[in-house]
Amino acid sequence: MSERAPVKDWKTDWDHLDSDWRNNPYPIWDKLRKECPIAHTERFEGAYLPTRYEDVKAISYDTNHFSSRRVVVRDYHVDVTIPAPPITSDPPWHKPEKRVLLPFFSMQEIKKLEPKARAVCNELIDGFIDDGQCDAAQQYSRHIPVRVIAHMLGVDENDGDLFIRWIHEILELGVRDYDVFLQGMTEMTAYFQVEIDKRKDDPRDDLISIMMQARCEGEPWTPERVLGALRLLMIAGIDTTWSAIGSSLWHLATHPQDRQRLLDEPELMPTAVEEMLRAYSPVTMAREVVEDTEISGCPIKAGNMVLLSFPAANRDPEMFEDADKVVIDRQPNRHSAFGLGIHRCVGSNLARMEMTVAIEEWLKRIPHFSLEGEVTWSEGTVRGPRSLPFKLT
Ligand code: HEM
Repeated sequence: MSERAPVKDWKTDWDHLDSDWRNNPYPIWDKLRKECPIAHTERFEGAYLPTRYEDVKAISYDTNHFSSRRVVVRDYHVDVTIPAPPITSDPPWHKPEKRVLLPFFSMQEIKKLEPKARAVCNELIDGFIDDGQCDAAQQYSRHIPVRVIAHMLGVDENDGDLFIRWIHEILELGVRDYDVFLQGMTEMTAYFQVEIDKRKDDPRDDLISIMMQARCEGEPWTPERVLGALRLLMIAGIDTTWSAIGSSLWHLATHPQDRQRLLDEPELMPTAVEEMLRAYSPVTMAREVVEDTEISGCPIKAGNMVLLSFPAANRDPEMFEDADKVVIDRQPNRHSAFGLGIHRCVGSNLARMEMTVAIEEWLKRIPHFSLEGEVTWSEGTVRGPRSLPFKLT
């Protein structure tokens, strides 16, 4: 594993794995937006960091110069990408592959999962409410997306710890260490291969079976593509929503006036969820520059990566009034937490449902709570609280 030198100058040497970024990235982005809106670093074999909404948007929409064949900025170079369609696909393959997944995540389909999500939340709360304290990241927010996606796919909900370990290896530890990344990927692939094999002659009423029968452009989806899409759903569906629920609860624990307002005006939940997504956007993806170009007058060189910080874009004061303030009835709120352009999130209905249910069920049973100890945050591609010690009063 590589030793990291601390960042000396964020404009020329930025590093999203630096502890200052992990603990509090907002002042870093504010300064860069004012002084150097497209920063560069020689780390990661060369990578750009746009922090303005307009620039993040321009790059997201420009699939000619910016490819999704590499979507994570890592310390090392990998020539062979492990496909996870559609997130690693570029046009023209991207659209037909995305179309296969979209119907499973429609509002109508997700609504059917709501009772399950509510039951999971209450079961989790039952497990700690009498203790008067809990780690809301470890005992609550972490389990909700795992159990819902496992239920949807038709795999064992008790395997949640395994899924979380693989994601940690792929998206966090694996950003620095290729062997760890490969280990997580290999184990996850083997797991899904077994699940696919089980359904070959015995299809079930679950998403894996449905995906195995799906057709893409009139042709059956190949087992390799099904496997890749399953990896993606697992990776995209867990850490992201775990982080978004955790950050929302952290905000409500540390801002009692917003918590009280939500208790008094529960009809604000939809705008509050959108504002949590904007202010604490968890997901930062990347692109590979495949052809020299220019963004807002800044030359962008092929071969470099671009860290596409939707979270930084969402704090841009040019786009959002009082961008650094959390305003739970903010409207309009055209945030980019779910991405911009062709790769916009497939699971946004599911994520919104899980966030809403998780906050609602929590507030019903635990209206008063506060932070009692140190919060730790994940690093890299997905940012959210990984330890959230609360006193339940
Ligand atoms: C709060 C939770 C979530 C956030 C903030 C989030 C955010 C994002 C973002 C920013 C992208 C765009 C990536 C890019 O441009 O490269 C994306 C793509 C995607 N997300 Fe989510 N996501 C969340 C939850 C989910 C869930 C629950 C699922 C499904 C289980 C999911 C599935 C996907 C898929 C399949 C894509 C790829 C879409 C494509 O390439 O066209 N996400 N997500």
